Amino acid sequence: MSNQEFARRRKHLMQSMGEGAIAILTAAPTLYRNRDSEYHYRPDSDFYYLTGFPEPEAVMVLKPGRAHGEYILFCRERDPKSAIWVGPRAGQEGAVQEYGADDSFPIDDMDDILPGLLEGVDRVFYTMGNHSDFDKRVIDWVNNLRKQSRAGVHTPGEFIAMDHLLHDMRLFKSSHELKAMRTAATISAKAHCRAMQVCKPGMYEYQVEAELLHSFMQAGARFPAYSSIVGGGANACVLHYVDNKDKLKSGDLLLIDAGAEYDYYAADISRTFPVNGRYSPAQRELYQIVLDAQLAAIEQVQPGKHWNDPHEAAVRVITEGLVRVGILKGKVETLIEKEKYKTFYMHRTGHWLGMDVHDVGDYKVDDEWRLLEAGMVMTVEPGLYIPAGSKGVDEKWWDIGIRIEDDVLVTRNGHEILTAGVPKAIDEIESLMAAAHG
Ligand code: GLY
Ligand code: MN
Ligand code: MN
Repeated sequence: MSNQEFARRRKHLMQSMGEGAIAILTAAPTLYRNRDSEYHYRPDSDFYYLTGFPEPEAVMVLKPGRAHGEYILFCRERDPKSAIWVGPRAGQEGAVQEYGADDSFPIDDMDDILPGLLEGVDRVFYTMGNHSDFDKRVIDWVNNLRKQSRAGVHTPGEFIAMDHLLHDMRLFKSSHELKAMRTAATISAKAHCRAMQVCKPGMYEYQVEAELLHSFMQAGARFPAYSSIVGGGANACVLHYVDNKDKLKSGDLLLIDAGAEYDYYAADISRTFPVNGRYSPAQRELYQIVLDAQLAAIEQVQPGKHWNDPHEAAVRVITEGLVRVGILKGKVETLIEKEKYKTFYMHRTGHWLGMDVHDVGDYKVDDEWRLLEAGMVMTVEPGLYIPAGSKGVDEKWWDIGIRIEDDVLVTRNGHEILTAGVPKAIDEIESLMAAAHG
């Protein structure tokens, strides 16, 4: 993402905030995997969206109309000693020259400088509740200023949640963002194809995961967007199964839910295919129900439809299918009304997708489902999960877990499936696997 893109976002936010306002946003802390060993640092998406600044221990301040510059970045000073261990920091020089800050100060000087920036401001835009230590500091700065109000210091009267403005911006993807999301989607689709091609009975789930990660990294996506789910047989019925430790058996299905992150944007794909390359009759029947539900839901992704339309379409097709095969009994309307499908389809049909895999953005506006508009990206991911022992369900359906998930962009005329590069029709998947195994 270019510096112009980050600058455009800050400008947009400042225009919405108006004069007399300030926005304060802190970088996420570093997390430790175990003593002394850090997780690879991933900036908070809100912070990175506005700054493009990849280091921890940084605070962004936006003050529209400030004569000495509207964008102030507090960050760590350059330090030759730490550079030997972990590489150079941007420092105040880099913050200005490389990252486009108008002004930059050492993070250690923030308690001295930030209260001054709050003087004369009416409204503070802030994301309260994400970092409690930092919340306290912000409140202390404001309270200290208030103590000086008798001396004529004008102090902020209002705290406003920044989330609304910022998350609405993040919900609508720019052409630059869509480019990154298309790349993430293409890389992820290729990785799923590779998983289908290499999978065979006797492999371990983690070995298939290794193939996915190998594909991601070879294609330039250093990290997955979330922990990959690679679950064979019964494990496919555990929605967030990430142990990925069991041996894959012929006759079982394998559910993979995995997506790459590229330039801070996520893909999120699920496919479910037979470990031995051929769906059994029972698997085929349930798989086709989920696929039909997914296609019906995707049809609903277009401007003017509301957020819940795809879910309602999926629920209808799944309920009809479950009645047809005898897993549910009764009238479709009544079963939908009583949510009987929830025993086997217990999650929602999708979520917004962007820098966060479960991306930000309101799903309802004024208590009504939000209308879909061009530039929004969402997943469409119905499933069916029938663990062994499911009461009143014929054993032939047991241990079948299926999810089919694509990433779909709302366009001006309809939609575009970003993840169309990996097959999902039964015959296409079987052909791909057969061709790979000779
Ligand atoms: N991979 C998480 C999800 O599908 O929502
Ligand atoms: Mn998803
Ligand atoms: Mn997923």
